[in-house]
Amino acid sequence: MATIQWFPGHMAKTIRQLEENLHVVDIVFELVDARIPDASRNPEIERLIKDKPHLMILTKSDLADPAQTKNWIAHFKAMGLPAIAVDSKANITTKTVTKIAQSILGDKLAAEQQKGLKERPIRAITVGIPNVGKSTLLNRLVNKRVAQVGDTPGVTKGQQWLRSSSKLSLLDTPGILWPKFEDEETGQKLALTGAIKDKRFASDDVALFALHFFRETYPEALPERYKLSDADLDLSDVDLLLAITKKIGMKDDYDRASERLIQDTRKAKLGRYTLDRMDGDRND
Ligand code: G4P
Repeated sequence: MATIQWFPGHMAKTIRQLEENLHVVDIVFELVDARIPDASRNPEIERLIKDKPHLMILTKSDLADPAQTKNWIAHFKAMGLPAIAVDSKANITTKTVTKIAQSILGDKLAAEQQKGLKERPIRAITVGIPNVGKSTLLNRLVNKRVAQVGDTPGVTKGQQWLRSSSKLSLLDTPGILWPKFEDEETGQKLALTGAIKDKRFASDDVALFALHFFRETYPEALPERYKLSDADLDLSDVDLLLAITKKIGMKDDYDRASERLIQDTRKAKLGRYTLDRMDGDRND
């Protein structure tokens, strides 16, 4: 996806569109990247979607540390947010998503039936920052295009409902939200996972961030991938980057080696990982 520059005007437009779309949906599917469930959350999401029923979907769970994903799901649930993890590239089951959406909306749907209204599909919208996997998930969930919704007042022309199952419809235009620009570490997490593809971050900075993270959190990952010796592991992060550059045959081109390290990380060649850490024993 192309890089989006988020200026205040774009943000205002995004908010306006989302507010319009919220009128026609029953539930919001908020997508976050399972490797960075905090850094990939839009900073104002709670305020934007207000009291709308809401399902957290942790995407790219195939790349994330499974134990951490479990902790994150428990954490969101403890905050009152139902959450599931998916690998949209492989096997996202429509049934699972539909069932959860139905259980979240249970009271509303029951009330409609009691009033004698006909059973109808749940209407949902996916929202999330660029590259979090909105289109991939939609493509997985959807069977066919159905009615145009652009005639509804306030809803952008040309929008359509996509029919996932007889019980679930999705708005074809996902809500694209801006990422956090809060601090350097958040930015590096977004850059390392590929959420930000522009050159706001120098690749050697991002590579050094990755090196430091893996040494601390998954100490086996670097030695296995780059055949490092115990002596290598005593080096500083900068010297280790230079040592890896040589080991992978790039002489002293540490910029190229940094790119390689970033690509290896994105593809989980250093193993599955979660950058935003969540303890398992939290009671909150
Ligand atoms: P967006 O609409 O939110 O902008 O995201 P999009 O679906 O375009 O996905 C962004 C990238 O993330 C794509 O990779 C896509 O394949 C990948 N992706 C989405 N969901 C998953 C998932 O559950 N697991 C994994 N491993 N990857 C996922 P890309 O490199 O940009 O393109 P592609 O060559 O993989 O298609």
